[in-house]
Amino acid sequence: MHPITVRQMKFDVPSVDEFHPLCIAGSSALSYTHLATGLYVTYLEPFFVKSLRRVMDQIRDEALREDADRFSRQEAQHYRRHMDFNKAVFAHGYPGLEQRVEVLKRDFEGFLAHKTDRFHIGYIEGFESYTTQFALRVLVSGLYDHRHTARPVGDLFKWHMLEEVEHRNVAFDVYEHLYGDYLYRALVCWVAQHHMFRFIADCAQLMSSVDTARHGERCRITMRQKVLMAADRLGMRARTMLPGYTPHKYAVPPNIASLSAYFTQRVQSIH
Ligand SMILES: [Fe+2]
Ligand SMILES: [Fe+2]
Repeated sequence: MHPITVRQMKFDVPSVDEFHPLCIAGSSALSYTHLATGLYVTYLEPFFVKSLRRVMDQIRDEALREDADRFSRQEAQHYRRHMDFNKAVFAHGYPGLEQRVEVLKRDFEGFLAHKTDRFHIGYIEGFESYTTQFALRVLVSGLYDHRHTARPVGDLFKWHMLEEVEHRNVAFDVYEHLYGDYLYRALVCWVAQHHMFRFIADCAQLMSSVDTARHGERCRITMRQKVLMAADRLGMRARTMLPGYTPHKYAVPPNIASLSAYFTQRVQSIH
């Protein structure tokens, strides 16, 4: 079987009554950043698909073209499943959230209209190079199986992060194949990651403020949590910008293969 498996998953979506924002390990910081990431990818991943489609004919390596196609099809599944879940987030009622998401949507439309293909592919790689590291860590941490993680949200992110690991090399390989310009890649890495974290911080703060007022202090993201998260990201971000960076060097933990098999088997039992 090809290591990049396209799976059409189904996940339970919480009803308005069932949804509680502290859905990842009961932690305000982790929950709101995950909810915000779910909002971000519903506009990011369509941008990936459109950007790759534009350069597909320029990819001269047949195996890489197939990888890029599978990458796009995985991403297309991700944003659809997150869109389902986001309905529960919006239904919880966050004044100003839809407007912030609208700004993000216009950003990506602007990138597609005015930026070069090299920028688009560099942006994708900027996201992927960070997310792969995050995914490898989170999938061994047990966070999505935590007793205070809501099952459907935990499953959704577990599946998504697993497939991020499966297709971790593709954006890098496409960038190297088409452009191979290290300094530009490092620059766009920074730009892409800054754009992502700005959106995630804005949305997490907005949701946390609204919920602190209606559900209490446990929904607040504290200054200490913000500093710890920023410090934690810094090492992973810096790594992606080093000249020798390549996703091919990652040691993939043994539980990844069994997770891949688990989700593949789950699809087969659906269809
Ligand atoms: Fe994805
Ligand atoms: Fe991805």
